[in-house]
Amino acid sequence: MDYRVQAGVLGTGSALPSRVLSNSDLERMVDTSDEWITTRTGIKERRIAEANESTSDYATLACQRALESAGVSPDEVDLIVCATVTPDTMFPATASLIQHKLGATRAAAFDLSAACSGFIYALSLASAYIESGRYTKILVVAADLLSRITDYEDRSTCVLFGDGAGAVLLGPADAQKGFLAFDLGSDGSGAEFLIQPAGGSRVPATIESVESRLHFLRMSGQETFKFAVKAMVSATERVLSSAGMDVSDIDLLVPHQANIRIIEAARRKFDLVEEKVMVTIHKYGNTSSSSMAIALDEAVRAGRAKSGDLVVIVGFGGGLTWGAALLRL
Ligand code: ACO
Repeated sequence: MDYRVQAGVLGTGSALPSRVLSNSDLERMVDTSDEWITTRTGIKERRIAEANESTSDYATLACQRALESAGVSPDEVDLIVCATVTPDTMFPATASLIQHKLGATRAAAFDLSAACSGFIYALSLASAYIESGRYTKILVVAADLLSRITDYEDRSTCVLFGDGAGAVLLGPADAQKGFLAFDLGSDGSGAEFLIQPAGGSRVPATIESVESRLHFLRMSGQETFKFAVKAMVSATERVLSSAGMDVSDIDLLVPHQANIRIIEAARRKFDLVEEKVMVTIHKYGNTSSSSMAIALDEAVRAGRAKSGDLVVIVGFGGGLTWGAALLRL
């Protein structure tokens, strides 16, 4: 008999700022148009945090909602893993701030950096902890305020990004449920395609680094685009085949929300009907690590992902990194 514990999703939550930045707002800030943004990206609006807010505020709210939906109290949580590239501070970890705000007094806490793929990396890690028996309740929270590192003078990036947080509570799954497979990867040769050049040990903050706008995110859009489609398709194929399944078994695909054309290319490649692909990009833009976590929470709350459904969560991002998770909900 197989006594192996399988890790599964006990609850989900998300949190978004209420302030909306629309395409017409951006038309007044840079040389762009609603038509260009909509046709090239699928984005109509995104949410932006207030100046006095930080990543841990939204992350904490998303965690509270995930705990509520699972009926679990903060003091039952063993570990909090926060995937982010916009932590409140370089250190201490944002996860420790969340732990304090939640009152999760028993929980260990740390951050994980894998850009937009961070949610999948964190899910994989948390699942392994649960499967090993070391921990039984882990909050995985993906949270980013990308507006904080977006250059609102650069039209090629500022139209893309938004702020938000999504969380899942992981624990031992019921029989036949839980995470069935993961596929993670990295290709650091593409590190320069998506990068915040300054603020780390290579280019510490100086007056020059600020004047050169090196603390803002930089992206090579076309290189990232080409990589993204290939990475999403092959990671999805690998998680399915490692569980002996194929695309026809998928009930819902939850892709990273970077560009509707990337999502559409993957959808067409897999010949999936639109109802089987979760899309939030029109209203939130690219919220980095949190995009798949928010989309998963919205899918669960809207009844588009139900108990027993087979869900593939797949994304890519800076590093370059990519990842896919196969989940029986
Ligand atoms: N408004 C109007 N015109 C614009 C804008 C804008 N906001 N931005 C760029 N343009 C112009 C360019 O200057 C260019 O003009 P030119 O032909 O006169 O030189 C033209 O539009 C086409 O530019 P491209 O970069 O070729 O446009 P493309 O169709 O590739 O779309 C985009 C750009 C949307 C960035 C696309 O490449 C993309 O989505 N790439 C992937 C992005 C991505 O997935 N990022 C992941 C981030 S994940 C993370 O870790 C944060």
